[in-house]
Amino acid sequence: QSSVLASNDSEFTVEKANEYIAANKHKVIQTYRLQYHFMAPIGWINDPNGFIYHRGEYHLFYQYNPYNATANKIHWGHAKSKDLVHWKHLPVAMAPDQDYDADGVFSGSSMEKDGKLYVMYTGNSGNVQVQCIAISEDDITFEKVAENPVIEASTLPSNAQPQDFRDPKVIKRDNRYYVVTVSRTTENTGQVLLYQSEDLIEWEFKSILLQGTSAQGIMWECPDVFELDGKDVLILSAIQMPVVGDDYHNIDSVIAFVGTIDWDEGNFNVETMKELDHGMDFYATQTLLDDKGRRIAISWMNMWERSYPTAELNHGWAGAMTLPRILNLRNNYLVQTPIPEIANNYNLITTLSRRTLKNGKWAKKERTVISYVTSTHKLALNRKRSGVPITGAENPPVDQRQVTVPLENNKLSLQIFLDRSSVEIFANNGTETLTANIYPTEKSSDGIQFTVVGTAVINYLSFSKI
Ligand code: FRU
Repeated sequence: QSSVLASNDSEFTVEKANEYIAANKHKVIQTYRLQYHFMAPIGWINDPNGFIYHRGEYHLFYQYNPYNATANKIHWGHAKSKDLVHWKHLPVAMAPDQDYDADGVFSGSSMEKDGKLYVMYTGNSGNVQVQCIAISEDDITFEKVAENPVIEASTLPSNAQPQDFRDPKVIKRDNRYYVVTVSRTTENTGQVLLYQSEDLIEWEFKSILLQGTSAQGIMWECPDVFELDGKDVLILSAIQMPVVGDDYHNIDSVIAFVGTIDWDEGNFNVETMKELDHGMDFYATQTLLDDKGRRIAISWMNMWERSYPTAELNHGWAGAMTLPRILNLRNNYLVQTPIPEIANNYNLITTLSRRTLKNGKWAKKERTVISYVTSTHKLALNRKRSGVPITGAENPPVDQRQVTVPLENNKLSLQIFLDRSSVEIFANNGTETLTANIYPTEKSSDGIQFTVVGTAVINYLSFSKI
């Protein structure tokens, strides 16, 4: 494929990955590289993993193939940050170097225990997926434990398929460790499984925490469970969720359940369910709790089964993370706000300074259109003319998404973050968000134009560009 392909990819080790990255990262083509979103130095990334606030720093791991921009031979990349804005790349944490993870060190999470950083991940080895632990004393080098796999497929309930059993998210509650993980049932639905442990090494199956229905996809991925504002929240990523109205239009969707968990029984009583983001590129959300008590989510800003322009153009990379977003509950649904560390520096907020435009004309051929129809309250994002076309498994395709956003006090407030090849919209203080990738090709695609059919008042508060 590209000039940044590995010459010999028969053996995968952390050392080899790190050497490869150091020798080749300067070859990455910069055109669409993001300016204030997290990306790997080179190669392919997907899910955020092991997202944790630990010893005064945020650590972010990620599904990573350093060797080329395809989802293959997945390693764990690693970076850390003091402010979630400036990231320092660290050596690759894990490579697919064991029999039980030879086809990929798949997604997982981290937990601090006795001052050490434990990561729990899925070992993928062809027909079976198992859960494994690796430990770090210095937060840089990780040692896979001799007891691996610590959760084998033999522990699964009888309705589970062992080849789709993954993505452990470990949590601590009342001095006991729990892990939520997912499996595909024999009926091709998703389910969240709950295991418990005293020491993170010996695990016992507890219960099926939540059973998916056929209207909730053929398999679930990347579960995350946490308490928020007095409720329990379960976020997960659902494969092939059938479309309902404006929801679940991507091949895979992130959904958030709010309710209460009965920890004795090990089940989740669901009160509400909602798609977490209504853009085209948003998946595999994972959260952490930081020292300020904030529940912060980060997601893969991409989608499976798409064309990936930066890979196809041989730019040597594909994939990035969304902005970190603070989660809260409003009316029993999750709302997302961009962390102030970034929001205070880079954004465009529309309010103030009266300006009215009538029947404006488009100044440029290439454009990304954000529209709002007051009669229907539909907020839409259209990238049909944004630049390099993107195709996907979805039908109809991936050019437009929309969501209903009722006016609040007769106003729609939009906070919009444009980076070189991404757009994130937070509507009415994060009640709804739309996230997507765009790949403009014209040098002049750097303006903003407001157009109104009828009359509107645009209050323009701030606009900063980097
Ligand atoms: C979600 C996912 C996970 C898996 C990982 C593999 O995007 O499919 O279920 O662990 O990606 O990279």
